[in-house]
Amino acid sequence: MDFSSKSMPMLFIATLLLELTCIAASGNRSRQQVLYVSEAADLIKLRNSFSPPLILYANWTGSPCSTNGSQWFGITCHNSRVAGVSLPGMRLSGSIPSTVLQNLWYLASLDLSNNALYGTLPTLQGLINLRVVSFASNQFSGAIPLQFVALPNLAKLELQDNNLSGTIPAFDQQALARFNVSHNHLEGRIPSNPVLQGFPTTSFANNLQLCGKPLANPCSSPTSPAPPSAGTAASSQSSGKSLRSWAIVLIVISALAGVCMATFCFLFCLKRRSKKATEKAFDLDASLAKGSGTSEIISEANQNKNLMFYDREKATCGLDDLMRSPAEWLGKGELGNTFRAMPESGRIMVVKRLHGVNGVSKEEFVQQMQLLGRLRHKNLVEMLSFHCSKEEKLVVFEHVSGGNLFQLLHDNRGEARIVLKWAARLNIVKGISRGLAYLHESTPFHKILHANLKSSNVLIDHNEEGKEYNSRLTDYGFYSILPSTQVHSLAVGKVPEFSQGMKLADKADVYCFGLILLEVVTGRFPGDEEDLPGWVRSNVTNGRPTDILDMEIASEIERYPDILKLTQIALDCLEIDPERRPVMNEVVKRTEEI
Ligand SMILES: *[C@@H]1O[C@H](CO)[C@@H](O)[C@H](O)[C@H]1NC(C)=O
Ligand SMILES: *[C@@H]1O[C@H](CO)[C@@H](O)[C@H](O)[C@H]1NC(C)=O
Ligand SMILES: *[C@@H]1O[C@H](CO)[C@@H](O)[C@H](O)[C@H]1NC(C)=O
Ligand SMILES: *[C@@H]1O[C@H](CO)[C@@H](O)[C@H](O)[C@H]1NC(C)=O
Ligand SMILES: *[C@@H]1O[C@H](CO)[C@@H](O)[C@H](O)[C@H]1NC(C)=O
Repeated sequence: MDFSSKSMPMLFIATLLLELTCIAASGNRSRQQVLYVSEAADLIKLRNSFSPPLILYANWTGSPCSTNGSQWFGITCHNSRVAGVSLPGMRLSGSIPSTVLQNLWYLASLDLSNNALYGTLPTLQGLINLRVVSFASNQFSGAIPLQFVALPNLAKLELQDNNLSGTIPAFDQQALARFNVSHNHLEGRIPSNPVLQGFPTTSFANNLQLCGKPLANPCSSPTSPAPPSAGTAASSQSSGKSLRSWAIVLIVISALAGVCMATFCFLFCLKRRSKKATEKAFDLDASLAKGSGTSEIISEANQNKNLMFYDREKATCGLDDLMRSPAEWLGKGELGNTFRAMPESGRIMVVKRLHGVNGVSKEEFVQQMQLLGRLRHKNLVEMLSFHCSKEEKLVVFEHVSGGNLFQLLHDNRGEARIVLKWAARLNIVKGISRGLAYLHESTPFHKILHANLKSSNVLIDHNEEGKEYNSRLTDYGFYSILPSTQVHSLAVGKVPEFSQGMKLADKADVYCFGLILLEVVTGRFPGDEEDLPGWVRSNVTNGRPTDILDMEIASEIERYPDILKLTQIALDCLEIDPERRPVMNEVVKRTEEI
């Protein structure tokens, strides 16, 4: 993998990807299901890196946060999320994986001081809520991770009494009030920024080779390459690597300052002339980078930095912001991996990293995304933004919190199941039909195909009482930019005319909608059945229509006429000949009448 500075912002997501693809590979249904990485798993990973096993093995069981706080020793919770890990003086030994705890988004305090931990420090990347970090009095070695500089709320950092080497990164967080790196093997000039210069000498003492203020020991070597504003990486790293690393620091710092300003400026100017605006955004950052000698790297990274938001009110972050934000892997679908990202701005978004669309030209891609970005409907998940570069095509959606129809229908069958009543089912399919009709009719000149309509792509929005189920379609509209080799993996790959090599049109979506109706009525997943439509049709024509019903609705006898009406609509949608299927507008009319 190429970790050049340009692709660096993707690094975090890429790491997640590697770690998690193995989860995706297990089980047939797991592709359908949205998987969550739990905080518990992260804590267990931390625990398992400690030897010898301590009381934590017996104590850390169940879930880390319960309604009244935590039953786990050393763990504190806030709003049912892990907020603190405090294990000082526990005689813990072992080395901690560098990526550990990265799913603890809400972690505010981490104290592992006074133990016997060794190896390099964990990077704590993306844990933007961290305020207090103590690794003091252990045997950690290696460099202070540069990622610590990007923890915006860091107020206390204690690294004293370890075996750390390399130089001190340029910590410049305004909140940083306590800082101690004394009693280590650090070297080089102490960065001369006001934040670090504000700490007493005892914060830096007993590092034989540190120099510069506030220590009394001036830096003698004129060859010291470090510019005062930028901390360099560990001297133990190769020079190429360290150059790269401090380029990253520069990018992070300049991006931090510049990204939001640039994005807003960009968006502001967008209305008038998009081209001019782009140049202006570059200028802004180039001027920030002036004199640093790395403007080339920076502006190269900048070229891909701006995210174009369709709706200016919702433009809350830039690409760098998004890429550096904590991300949670949600699942792998036909179009690529999906993540949930929470940028510092606080608005949670869903990022889809498309794969297999490299054959499409940038123009085509942008055109299609702009078309999709204009769509607004109560039953569609709103597309917020997209990003297009040679290596990377990202689409950003709004975040819908209530799970999907597949989960509602099939999860927890047997135990702890929340029964999905007929009224809710009917409401859901009405929403789907409206969303789909909108896709087919919203643009005057061509119908937008959903092309990947299936129960797992129907997200569910609950209203405040959690009673209303509002369906929101997602994953729509990518058909026209996918290579033909990939279309078979979409939902429309299963319609009869596809296997006959016919061109797909809106009636293909109608067929997929018919399958969803049967799934809702029978509780059976079409992918698991040989021929669900055939089985339903034969039962209905042979006078046994109630045999097909999902047990959960079979008891609602007074609803049978309605259920039968919906089943008939489904069978009409599932006609083999596309011409004989109804158009979506007609389907909407018929479902509304139920
Ligand atoms: C998974 O797929 C295999 C073959 O594709 C099948 O034999 C097996 O029953 C499936 N398992 C589940 C849980 O669906
Ligand atoms: C873990 O230890 C704490 C403190 O000793 C105790 O309050 C808690 O009940 C224990 N939890 C479990 C699951 O044993
Ligand atoms: C937690 O709270 C519930 C009710 O709010 C209560 O029944 C339960 O006993 C509490 N558990 C503890 C350990 O305090
Ligand atoms: C501390 O680091 C130095 C190299 O920087 C190494 O030689 C030494 O063995 C380390 N000491 C411990 C206790 O890990
Ligand atoms: C830093 O840590 C050392 C060693 O524990 C201590 O002597 C010193 O007072 C600390 N300095 C500050 C400013 O906390």
